[in-house]
Amino acid sequence: AQALNDSSTTVPQNATPKKPLRSAAWFDRPDDRTQQTLYIERYLNYGMTKEELLSGKPIIGIAQSGSDLAPCNKHHQVLAKRVREGIRSAGGIAFEFPTHPIQETIRRPTATLDRNLAYLSLVELLYAYPFDGVVLLTGCDKTTPACLMAAATMNIPAICLNVGPMLNGWAKGERMGAGGVVWQARELHAAGLIDDDQVADMVTSGTPSAGHCNTMGTASTMNALAEALGMALPGSAAIPAVYRERAQMAYRTGERIVDMVREDLKPSDIMTREAFENAIVSSTAIGGSTNAPIHLNAIAKHIGVPLDLDDWDRIGFEVPLLLNMMPAGDFLGEEYYRAGGLPAILAELLEANALPHPAAITANGRSIGDNARGKKTWDTNMIRPFSDPMKLNAGFLHLKGTLFDSAIMKTSVISPAFRQAFLENPDDLNAFEGKVAVFDGPEDYHKNVDKASIDERTILVMRGVGPLGYPGAAEVVNMRAPGHLLKRGVSDLPCIGDGRQSGTSGSPSILNATPEAADGGNLALLKNGDVVRVDLNKRRVDILISDKELADRRKELEASGGYRGPPSHTPWQDIFRREVGGLSEGMVLKGAPQFQRVAQT
Ligand code: FES
Ligand code: MG
Repeated sequence: AQALNDSSTTVPQNATPKKPLRSAAWFDRPDDRTQQTLYIERYLNYGMTKEELLSGKPIIGIAQSGSDLAPCNKHHQVLAKRVREGIRSAGGIAFEFPTHPIQETIRRPTATLDRNLAYLSLVELLYAYPFDGVVLLTGCDKTTPACLMAAATMNIPAICLNVGPMLNGWAKGERMGAGGVVWQARELHAAGLIDDDQVADMVTSGTPSAGHCNTMGTASTMNALAEALGMALPGSAAIPAVYRERAQMAYRTGERIVDMVREDLKPSDIMTREAFENAIVSSTAIGGSTNAPIHLNAIAKHIGVPLDLDDWDRIGFEVPLLLNMMPAGDFLGEEYYRAGGLPAILAELLEANALPHPAAITANGRSIGDNARGKKTWDTNMIRPFSDPMKLNAGFLHLKGTLFDSAIMKTSVISPAFRQAFLENPDDLNAFEGKVAVFDGPEDYHKNVDKASIDERTILVMRGVGPLGYPGAAEVVNMRAPGHLLKRGVSDLPCIGDGRQSGTSGSPSILNATPEAADGGNLALLKNGDVVRVDLNKRRVDILISDKELADRRKELEASGGYRGPPSHTPWQDIFRREVGGLSEGMVLKGAPQFQRVAQT
């Protein structure tokens, strides 16, 4: 594939590093030979030699995120062998170690609870051991931002290798997208069209092989953005997990990190403000997940780059959607890769002068513009020309108002049916209002959605599911309509909530509302039947009740002790709730960004 031509190393092997190696503090200690011996002694026990460890070669970590607990990333246990061979052939020494596993679909109560935990533990490992650089084995949703946040804080040379998407899912001749098929199956089930066994068959058909979700969910998004930031080799993000090119890319990534150490090419050289702006534009062009702003803003905070949701709206909203991939389009990961992957998207943007900073430097030592130039797609149905996109203005809106200070909406998934049913002028993204049906968490929703009084003009509200309320913030804001409406063909009710939604969902939700109900947000004051007005042009969402009524409700709520989520069940849940900020700010640990660039201080 064309993408593989771009990762050749630029530095002669065994060239002298630009800067003394960090690992010398362990393995080159003329001041204290005894200490040096203690540092190498145990590594000899698995067959390393004294000469190897004291040779002055760069020590490269392989941060292994795959395990039996993390099926999406498990294929990294195979790929890591090729990474290791790449490191060795470029003159480095590899040390593979486990990261805290994060499996999106299994971890209770939410996988996001572990993003910051994986971040913390990876920073500790990179700080505490003799690493000169690290290969970050990324994939499933939160594993990628956790790794990039840690790379930002440590600021030692680092490069991502995605595990790659699984093969396309198929059932009855139709493509089934991982994650997305769950929402489809739930609707068909609620409408009485399929039974439990058929749900199981349908859902499992979406996930046919090793790899992460094959849709443009959070995993595909965050790995594309890692590449757009410049933190992965060009063309690496989209290669399906089990294709041979993936293992070849693993080898090249291993080779490249050794030279990045010699060149002293650090995350702070790559993840600049310019790189983040490129990533925001790329996110819109691929139809990226609603989780992308949370994670990208978090990474920016840890590297010390100012970035907020107004930037996303200003830089990203007016960009067109180019990629025809579920949930915003029709196809899956294999077509995306064959059509050229991210480099073909970047080439389209570049040619249209829509990539804001072509000179931004990337992991291979060249600029993102140089990497992308000429990488035209050969499948213009899959990757559309900039002049004939899937959708115009496909980015996130940043909404404010009396219901919350901040929330986002992904407009690229707004269906024609939704436009007809809700928008005051269906030809234009504008305003709608409706009575709300309020649910306190997913359990309340599942128990009551088919009983509540909901009609085709109702706005569904999910609260109590933000970082504090449902520790970590649950992916539950995309809510299906009740069965009686689904049977009549009404499926797209607007949803608002203080939690997140799956990147694989096509729901036109207003989500990540901050402050959340459990943090004093006005969402806690809403009652069933209140009217909420959404004005997308004005970027506002307001409760249409008087200030006096709001103040009275606030008093009443405070007298009753405030809006409460369930108690913490583990020490980490408790620490997380005490230390974490809101979704609009990236849900980072409040004290963590001040430790940015540990390695330089
Ligand atoms: Fe792991 Fe989607 S659940 S990538
Ligand atoms: Mg998800």
